[in-house]
Amino acid sequence: MKSAISLVVALTALASQSSAHLLTDAERADIFERFTHGGTLYPVYQYIRPNTNMNSPVIDLTSTDTRCNVGANGSATDTITVAAGDAFSFTSDVAVYHDGPLSIYMAKAPAAAKDFDGSGQVWFKILDIGPTFDSSGTATWNLAQTYTYNIPTALPSGDYILRIQQLAIHNPYPAGTPQFYIECAQITVTGGGTGTPGPLVSIPGWIDGTEPGYVVNIYNDFHNYTVPGPAVWAGQNA
Ligand SMILES: *[C@@H]1O[C@H](CO)[C@@H](O)[C@H](O)[C@H]1NC(C)=O
Ligand SMILES: *[C@@H]1O[C@H](CO)[C@@H](O)[C@H](O)[C@H]1NC(C)=O
Repeated sequence: MKSAISLVVALTALASQSSAHLLTDAERADIFERFTHGGTLYPVYQYIRPNTNMNSPVIDLTSTDTRCNVGANGSATDTITVAAGDAFSFTSDVAVYHDGPLSIYMAKAPAAAKDFDGSGQVWFKILDIGPTFDSSGTATWNLAQTYTYNIPTALPSGDYILRIQQLAIHNPYPAGTPQFYIECAQITVTGGGTGTPGPLVSIPGWIDGTEPGYVVNIYNDFHNYTVPGPAVWAGQNA
């Protein structure tokens, strides 16, 4: 009997991990689970790799989970065709509410995007969104439910992983651990340019944990901010 009950508990836990819809509102946060292109907001995890992490952050800077989240595997995920220059959006289950920067990275897949695990020195950054500071020096973070940007026009055509990353630094280091909320879409870029994306970094390895933007205390003498990671590639409108 005991084992039967354990099994039910285990199956229930498994079910709540495999469906985003079983979370209560209070549990939901920062899951960038829906992709928009061409005016269509696609269903949860269509073109975005599902994961087994739900709303938990990734905190281990040395883990491959920092690429596309825990248990993410694109083999069963469709890949969407997007022209260079096109707008796209990631939409979270609820608006982001942990203070911190947001970045978008990409990696060129050697073959099909669904078969690429993101290993190697292949990642480049196309967008950083840090805080703005008003005249009194008070920071405002751009905490939204949907983030929209454009595929760089200079980006060569081909299959890519498109990765969104929110770095929550509301519990400042070292008492708290910065938290990464990550999802990866799979895209085929058409009509691309002849740019050379870079600088290229590895994930993990793209942030070493010593960056001011990682260790900063945003509640104490906070007047400027640099988003961690490589410089943004200037392939937009190139
Ligand atoms: C996804 O999982 C399949 C089956 O376990 C495995 O063969 C494949 O290498 C994985 N793909 C990635 C990109 O990790
Ligand atoms: C703010 O600017 C100073 C001076 O350039 C720099 O040393 C510091 O690391 C910056 N802080 C953050 C959080 O980026």
